Amino acid sequence: MSEDKINATENIKNEKKKRIFSGIQPSGTLTLGNYIGAIRNFLLLSGEYDCLYCVVDEHAITVRQVPAELRRHTYETLAIYIACGLSPEENILFIQSHVHQHAELSWILGCYAMFGELSRMTQFKDKSANNSENINAGLFTYPVLMAADILLYQADLVPVGIDQKQHLELARTIAERFNGIYGDTFVVPDGYIPEVGMKIMSLAEPTKKMSKSDTNVNGYVAILDEPDTIIRKFRRAVTDSDSTVRYAEGKDGINNLMSIYSSFTGKSYNEIESEFEGKGYGDFKTAVGETVSDGLKPIRTEFNRLMTDKSYLESVMKQGAEQAGRLAERTLKKVQKKLGFVLLK
Ligand code: TRP
Repeated sequence: MSEDKINATENIKNEKKKRIFSGIQPSGTLTLGNYIGAIRNFLLLSGEYDCLYCVVDEHAITVRQVPAELRRHTYETLAIYIACGLSPEENILFIQSHVHQHAELSWILGCYAMFGELSRMTQFKDKSANNSENINAGLFTYPVLMAADILLYQADLVPVGIDQKQHLELARTIAERFNGIYGDTFVVPDGYIPEVGMKIMSLAEPTKKMSKSDTNVNGYVAILDEPDTIIRKFRRAVTDSDSTVRYAEGKDGINNLMSIYSSFTGKSYNEIESEFEGKGYGDFKTAVGETVSDGLKPIRTEFNRLMTDKSYLESVMKQGAEQAGRLAERTLKKVQKKLGFVLLK
């Protein structure tokens, strides 16, 4: 093939950018774990792919929510996306319940997901164990709605934390099963699970995942925490009784701080070890706290500004819902037709 021809083929290939879908629940304060594990990857991928980032309010109601808080958290989660640098011009940012096709496709896919498969989801088992007074059917079919989110947009790649890997695999199984019966319908999505910072641990109990539902507020850093709060939480971080800053098995606290520091500075573990050679844990914890606090400052400022401009946020929601709705409708119609539903013109 001549060089021109190769270039031409390359160009055609590049024209259709791969598509990304991901979502975050508006169920409370977003933490450093959400930032490093999710939003920052959304940002990294944003230039290279066609991205849809969703606020998944329908997932949030699998756990009882206070309506006014759910509403506020929905605005806040969208504001955090934008404040972190995801521009609504370059990405489709939207709210799940604004696009009715999610719930419709979810019903359909539920008929292609097996009871046994859903019963094996570890998150369902954990959540129902911790929430024994409200083991509702939505909690059980949660991964089906997640599959609908992804498959509606024919997403190629889904950035998620390691805790969502099993759900993503189920989405692939459902897509393959459907394609097997009805012919090519859905893109079978791949997960994008980052290595570094894939799991940010609690600062108070570094063997547990950092979580906003932690009863100990020193365990997590919220994206919107004030600088002195952030620094104080890092200074109190639980570490081991050794005193050299190095990444090693069993040093969960230090390993966690190193992975946080690495994801903010781009330094490798070796570089961090040399930087803090001969220094104690105290210096290291302060350095991590200050780095994180400085890194989050512009986000907090922009977030506060956005939250005073509800009408702007609503205009973003509206635009996102229209863009996402158009794509979603295309897939839903295709699915309904394959199933044998009567489509009216
Ligand atoms: N279940 C995901 C979580 O709790 C959120 C989510 C819902 C999601 N739908 C999604 C993530 C689709 C990726 C793709 O983190």
